[in-house]
Amino acid sequence: MKTAREVLDVPALRKDFPILSQKVYGKRLVYLDNAATSQKPRPVIEAMERFYTQDCSNIHRGVHALSERATRAYEDARIKVQQFVNAPEAREIIFVRGTTEGINLVAGSFGREHVGAGDEILISEMEHHSNIVPWQILCEEKGARLRVAPINDRGELLMEEYEKLLGPRTRIVAVAHVSNALGTVNPVREIVALAHSRNIPVLIDGAQAVPHRKVDVQDLDCDFFTFSGHKMFGPTGVGVLYGKAQHLEKMPPYQGGGDMISSVTFEKTTYNKIPYKFEAGTPYIAGGYGLAAAIDYLDAIGMEAIGEYEHGLLEYATRAVSGIPGLEIIGTAKEKAGVLSFTLDGIHPHDIGTILDQEGIAIRTGHHCAQPLMDRFGIPATARASLAFYNTKEEIDQLVLGLRKVIEVFG
Ligand code: ALA
Repeated sequence: MKTAREVLDVPALRKDFPILSQKVYGKRLVYLDNAATSQKPRPVIEAMERFYTQDCSNIHRGVHALSERATRAYEDARIKVQQFVNAPEAREIIFVRGTTEGINLVAGSFGREHVGAGDEILISEMEHHSNIVPWQILCEEKGARLRVAPINDRGELLMEEYEKLLGPRTRIVAVAHVSNALGTVNPVREIVALAHSRNIPVLIDGAQAVPHRKVDVQDLDCDFFTFSGHKMFGPTGVGVLYGKAQHLEKMPPYQGGGDMISSVTFEKTTYNKIPYKFEAGTPYIAGGYGLAAAIDYLDAIGMEAIGEYEHGLLEYATRAVSGIPGLEIIGTAKEKAGVLSFTLDGIHPHDIGTILDQEGIAIRTGHHCAQPLMDRFGIPATARASLAFYNTKEEIDQLVLGLRKVIEVFG
């Protein structure tokens, strides 16, 4: 069996990320805030530069060479995304600004059509605000009810309770593939099967899954899957909504404007075919270039190798922090990916973050846009170290030293 270090040549990979070699307050940067956003390898930065230095033009509109090049590159990016998540067709891939917009699109279009007064939408206790608030807005508008599936103290969904909540009025299920605050990997395949056996469609928030594991939307059989470019080493401001064509074709547009129309008169507008029906206005073209480069980069490393390496690193980190007095890990699910959330007895997470920052260590502290989840655990906040494949055991050792310093200062 290969050791974690042999699975990936991390020192070589780190050289692809210019930002990682910098010092912060004279200390080597230890970047452990990857669940908030990941860093970008040189090929991503160069792909975006290529758009602005060689191909900059609008797409789907111009007949000139630049526009044709940019249109081809943007549509090639769509095909790359399709292959990356194994979607059956490229027209099922809609470019959005990110996961949040993907969920809002489904709530605002599919949701508006399918949810009525007295109907129910099922989410879970571990969702972050992006997978709560769009559904709440829809429920308020329609007089529908938001149901919330409970979790246990380890941060795992209680599947028996989950199943009971799938009722005759449930119109859609929305669930995170991987929790941003706990790292729990949810049994999304099982959730889809349970929901589908009752004809209920499922949206999966995949933002925290795609950087860590191979996703196959056909295997999951989900109706919608959405994720952000910036969490998977691509640019901020571009993301993806995958939807089954059978749904997308029937769904009304989400926004109106250029590109999403087929013809417009003051009397009536007819809409473009999918995916363009959902892509109003000039999109983030450079973002498409960058996202395609990020996918190429991840494909070259291999998602299986990334998953295996990170699994080893998370186990190492979990063991390493367990010896720290007063430290409690929040989120101890059997299946976890990428995230180590914790509290230190008597020390506010913001103080932990501030001292670590002075040591050059970047983590996130706070409620992680998941306030109801914090309430579930009876805490206001956690400190969260979140991993990427470019992190190392040495960096985890730095984190442990940093945490000991926090205890010296505040303990
Ligand atoms: N949802 C992102 C996070 O977990 C921003 O930090």
